[in-house]
Amino acid sequence: MQLDEFRRHAHDLVDWMADYLDRVEALPVRPRVTPGRIAEQLPAAAPESGEAMDVILEDFRSIVLPGMTHWQHPRFFAYFQANSSPPSVLAEMLTATLAAQCMSWETSPAATELEERMMVWLRQMIGLPAEFVGSIQDTASTATLCAIVAARERATGFAGSESGLSGVGGLTAYCSAEAHVSVEKDVKIAGIGVANLRKIPVDDDQAMVAAELDRAVAADVAAGLKPVCVVAALGTTGAAGFDSLRDVGRVCRRHDVWLHVDAAWAGSALLLPEMRWMIDGVEQADSFVFNPHKWLLTNFDCSAFFVRDPATLRRTFEILPEYMKTREGLTVTNYRDWGIQLGRRFRALKLWFVIRHYGVEGLRNTIRAHIEWAQELATVIDDAEDFELLRRPVLSLLCFRYRPAGVADAALDALNERLLRAANDSGRIYVTHTRLRGVYAIRFVVGQTATERRHVQEAWEVVREVARGLKR
Ligand SMILES: Cc1ncc(COP(=O)(O)O)c(C=O)c1O
Repeated sequence: MQLDEFRRHAHDLVDWMADYLDRVEALPVRPRVTPGRIAEQLPAAAPESGEAMDVILEDFRSIVLPGMTHWQHPRFFAYFQANSSPPSVLAEMLTATLAAQCMSWETSPAATELEERMMVWLRQMIGLPAEFVGSIQDTASTATLCAIVAARERATGFAGSESGLSGVGGLTAYCSAEAHVSVEKDVKIAGIGVANLRKIPVDDDQAMVAAELDRAVAADVAAGLKPVCVVAALGTTGAAGFDSLRDVGRVCRRHDVWLHVDAAWAGSALLLPEMRWMIDGVEQADSFVFNPHKWLLTNFDCSAFFVRDPATLRRTFEILPEYMKTREGLTVTNYRDWGIQLGRRFRALKLWFVIRHYGVEGLRNTIRAHIEWAQELATVIDDAEDFELLRRPVLSLLCFRYRPAGVADAALDALNERLLRAANDSGRIYVTHTRLRGVYAIRFVVGQTATERRHVQEAWEVVREVARGLKR
């Protein structure tokens, strides 16, 4: 492509991007396409000759766009949001244009040094102790995997990476029954095995019972097994449970087990001083992850991973073939040694743009507003005779169900499942569900960058309207 053509399309696309963000509210949040509908519009094989960009862009509009779920829609209340914002998108455009591969300091000094500084900023912003140092990983799943593998290596004196796992005996890991499923995936990959992941029961408030953890670890030690890592959750995915880092940390210290903290979603709320209760006891943690791509207005992917002892992490992951030796050697940070991949994207730039554009105060205001609107919605649901609040908002997540008079309890799960489907099929909102104490619950999270109070109110109207229209 000639650069004048690139320039013309780029200008057009920036207009399209601004128009999209302006009108996304009018689009259905989730498309009503059936599986295979998009694929059937795509040629079965790659084109032999190149095609005009105008044609490609037209196909983007007519084939791809109608098949997209609009994560940046202000009435997206499902899962946890994957945030974005205009300054973040601008940075991503630059990142794509520079297209740097930031595996080592030498391959992109500015990317490395900006990442180092962004991790210091983030650490200060969320109130982690000063000894934590960080790197940006793609996702929390990857960060937790790095933590578990580093923990495994510390527990086995690095025998795992030297000679394989066959000689190191039975390794075990721990998390609560409500922890994210990525922990399960990570222990599989780390060679610990899901059968050796102990899922510790939670209390009525969804928090890991530390006494049960203590019992499980002690029993494993007595049986000759080797506890490697505990993953504590701040803000579980189902219903926002918070494990006590003080109590869980105490167990970890007693048994000398690595404590990793998964605050993928809730971590952004630590910007608010009034939410720092979450990290009481964090000084006992060995590693900590949260995702600015969930609730800090920063494009996916961007996961902030902090460790107390980077030397252990580096020793676990470092490699140094002849062709990667550089003049600066170990006097600089080479982030390829801080995780799994060799090649790394320049992710720090979007954080820099976002934090500078909004300022810490601006980011705090956004998160505080989300929490406030979730509280307001909970009050409205509490007052509605035909709805039941099942989980009061914890930060900005709440759960409820439709419970009209005259419907037997046994029929409520199916009724609420129909309500959720119909509400989502309307295209006006997108919400997901969970199970709480065995019952089907509609799970509602406020956290989209473009969401305003009115969108939360509109969502409630949609839910009520759809509920009343359901055949019983
Ligand atoms: C608590 C928690 N941990 C981990 C994850 C996994 O996040 P990622 O997609 O960044 O791997 C999620 C995803 O929603 C989550 O809610």
